[in-house]
Amino acid sequence: MLSRKPPMGFNTWNTFGEKISDSVIRETADAMVEMGLPDAGYEYLVIDDCWSLRDRDPVTGKIVPDPVKFPEGMKAVSDYVHSKGLKFGMYSCAGTRTCADYPGSFDHEYLDAETFAEYGADFLKYDFCYKPQSANGPLLYRRMGMALKACGREILFSACNWGCDDVETWIRSTGAHMYRSTGDINDNFRSFKDIALSQIDKLAYSAPGCFNDIDMLICGMYGSGNVANGGCTDEEYKTHFALWCMFSSPLMLGGDLRKLKDQPFILNLIKNRNLIRINQDEEGRPAVAVCRRDGDRVTFAKHLSNNEIAIMFANLNDDDGNCELFFDELGITAAGGYGLEMTECFTGENIGVKKEYMKRRIPAHGCEVFICKLSK
Ligand code: GAL
Repeated sequence: MLSRKPPMGFNTWNTFGEKISDSVIRETADAMVEMGLPDAGYEYLVIDDCWSLRDRDPVTGKIVPDPVKFPEGMKAVSDYVHSKGLKFGMYSCAGTRTCADYPGSFDHEYLDAETFAEYGADFLKYDFCYKPQSANGPLLYRRMGMALKACGREILFSACNWGCDDVETWIRSTGAHMYRSTGDINDNFRSFKDIALSQIDKLAYSAPGCFNDIDMLICGMYGSGNVANGGCTDEEYKTHFALWCMFSSPLMLGGDLRKLKDQPFILNLIKNRNLIRINQDEEGRPAVAVCRRDGDRVTFAKHLSNNEIAIMFANLNDDDGNCELFFDELGITAAGGYGLEMTECFTGENIGVKKEYMKRRIPAHGCEVFICKLSK
C-alpha cells in the first residue's frame, strides 16, 4: 500500500522554481545520499513545475522535456535518481496549463500518465491551475487517479488544489495518496504559523492511505530561493519541522540540499529520529489541539502506537510565555492515579512523571516536544 505513512522526500519548487536542470537533480540526489537522508526515511526526489517546453509535440501530443534544462531527457534523470536508491517524482496539472504556464494534463490524462510511467516516475504531484469551467476538482482528480492506475506503474498520486472546494471531503475517493490542504508556504514564520493554525480543524481528515499535505518544508532556506520571503531563525525552523511532524504531514524537503553539509543545525533537525518517529507512526493518528492560551500558545497531542503519546508545546506568539496541559483533556484523570513520563525530543532529557497539570515556559516562536508513556 502506498502512503501507509506520510511520504518523505524532496521537491524542487521552494528553492529552485523554474531554475531546475539535469545537474540540479543529480546534485540533489548525490547530496541526499551523502547526507544520509534515505536512512532517515527521505526517499522521493520530485521535480516540480517548469520542466517542459511551452507546447506539446504537435505530432505525438506528448509533453516535451525542455532540452536546455534536461538535455538527456527525463528518463536519464530518473535512471540516475533510481541508481542512487531513490524514487523519482514528476509534476503536472489538472487544468489546461500548469501554474507557471506550461502544458497541463487536461484531456491528456492517460497519455501523460503513460509518459510519466515511461520516464520511470514513482510519484506525481498534480496541481489545479487553469481548470476549465466545465470541469470540477473531483472529476479532474478522478481522471488522473484512474489514468495512473492504468499506466502500468505504481505511482504515488499527490494532489495539490490548495485546500479548495472542501477537498478533504472528496479527495480520498479519487485515489490520491496525499493532498495539499493549504495554500502555498513561503519562507518566514508568519507563513508556516498561519498554515499550521488553519489546519487544526482539518487534522482529523489525515489518515494512512491519504495524508493532509501542508506543503513543502522551508527548513534551511534562510531567506534565499524561489519562495524566499524574509527567512526564519533556527528556533523557527525547529518549530516548523516539529509542527509538520506532529500533523502527520508528508515531509517534503524544500531547501537546497547541496548546502546541508554546511548547515549542521538543519541536518540534525530534519534527521531528528524522535520527531520522524512521531510523523511516521504506524497508526497514523491525527494530532489534536488540547489547549490554546493567550492567542496562539497551543498544546498539541498525538497518540502513537505502543501506548505512547506525543505532546507539543508550541508558542506561536511573539513573546515568551507558558504553554499548558490539563491531563484531564487527554483522558488522564486525577482519580485514575496515572501521569505521563516525558522525554523531550530535541534534548533527550527525561523530565520524569508529570500529573494532572503542567506548564512549560516556551520562548517566542519556539517549542518543546515530548514523547510520553503512561506511568503511575
Ligand atoms: C502551485 C503549487 C506550488 C507549486 C507551483 C508551481 O500551485 O501550490 O506548490 O507547485 O504551483 O507553479
